[in-house]
Amino acid sequence: MQKIKSVTEAEVAGKRVLVRVDFNVPLKDGAVANDLRIRTVLPTLDYLHAAGAATVIILTSLGRPEGKVVESLRLAPVEARLRELTTVPFEMRENLRFDPREEANDLGLAQELASLGDVYVNEAFADSHRAHASIAGVPKLLPSYAGLRFMEEVTKLTAALTPPAGSVAVIGGAKFETKVPLIQKLLSLYAEVLLGGALANDVIKARGLPFGGSLVSATPVPPAIAADERLVVPTDAVFAEIGSNAERSGSVVDIRKNESLIDIGPQTAALWSGKISTAPFVLWNGPLGMYEQGYAEGTEALARALTQSTGTAVVGGGDTAAAVEKYKFDPQKVFVSTGGGAMLQFLADGTLPGIEALRASAV
Ligand code: ADP
Ligand code: 3PG
Ligand code: MG
Repeated sequence: MQKIKSVTEAEVAGKRVLVRVDFNVPLKDGAVANDLRIRTVLPTLDYLHAAGAATVIILTSLGRPEGKVVESLRLAPVEARLRELTTVPFEMRENLRFDPREEANDLGLAQELASLGDVYVNEAFADSHRAHASIAGVPKLLPSYAGLRFMEEVTKLTAALTPPAGSVAVIGGAKFETKVPLIQKLLSLYAEVLLGGALANDVIKARGLPFGGSLVSATPVPPAIAADERLVVPTDAVFAEIGSNAERSGSVVDIRKNESLIDIGPQTAALWSGKISTAPFVLWNGPLGMYEQGYAEGTEALARALTQSTGTAVVGGGDTAAAVEKYKFDPQKVFVSTGGGAMLQFLADGTLPGIEALRASAV
């Protein structure tokens, strides 16, 4: 299989370089609320500048404007944040998704974008599950390379597909049906898959246990998955009373009809923290509870355990990265992926449309 080429293999001196990034970041009151995705591209910008690139032109999408101009999704605050973080000169084009041709992977748009540069760099791992014009189209037209962070994402997530014996995967969040292929695959690779978040509700239901008024997905869990004993669900949980929001914790099987399961309980948090602090490798995607509504204790307990773990870990997912933001992980040991959907799709399929586009590129 043809390998993707790193930007370090590109001839950029005197060239106009198009850098596709994923600055799809949360905004609050007209400013960037979380700049992880911006900070991660700085080494590539420094590299291009030091290597003598004539111009650096940054391309990104933000949000889902669906092919028209949406004032609140203009890139001005994102550009301002990047200018605070770097002294490298750059130009930034307006939100790619204001143009309907971006998501349609239109060749005309790809040609327009390609005409702006001599070399293309994909530094948008988190958007590379989208076969859009700036991801899948432009590499057909220009010599194309992967950015430094993109290479690191691929390396770290590839390693997560060959974990050492005794490794543990933790999968939380919601939308079980979108994560089934991944869970199936992880069960074949990991010693245990710890399932939290709303995903656990689906398995609890599939195992014939009471689930009260908990959020469950409409698609039933395949019986072979539900029956796998290495798929571990919480034994105790935090319950919220529907309507009143009164909360209590208790054994999962004691959930009442008018309650929903909203976080893993303290015993489960302690048990799982122990498992992940001794596992040689941990893969974690998805918060274990409704963290943005204040039910963050399970998620935070696991994040704390990771800061003390002896092994290494890969953590990812848009919500997960936000939920563990305040924990200062040792970057040598814990890699926080910028990918949400892209991380899940890479783990499930072992590749992404943006990776295939680089492989098939002109160089
Ligand atoms: P990520 O973005 O990290 O991949 P997801 O988007 O799949 O994660 O899931 C995050 C969402 O899951 C959050 O909005 C969170 O509130 C929700 N969630 C977590 N646990 C539960 C639960 N027990 N019941 C309902 N929703 C939950
Ligand atoms: C993400 O946040 O996962 C990427 O920026 C892709 O966003 P999308 O789901 O709107 O394509
Ligand atoms: Mg999410």
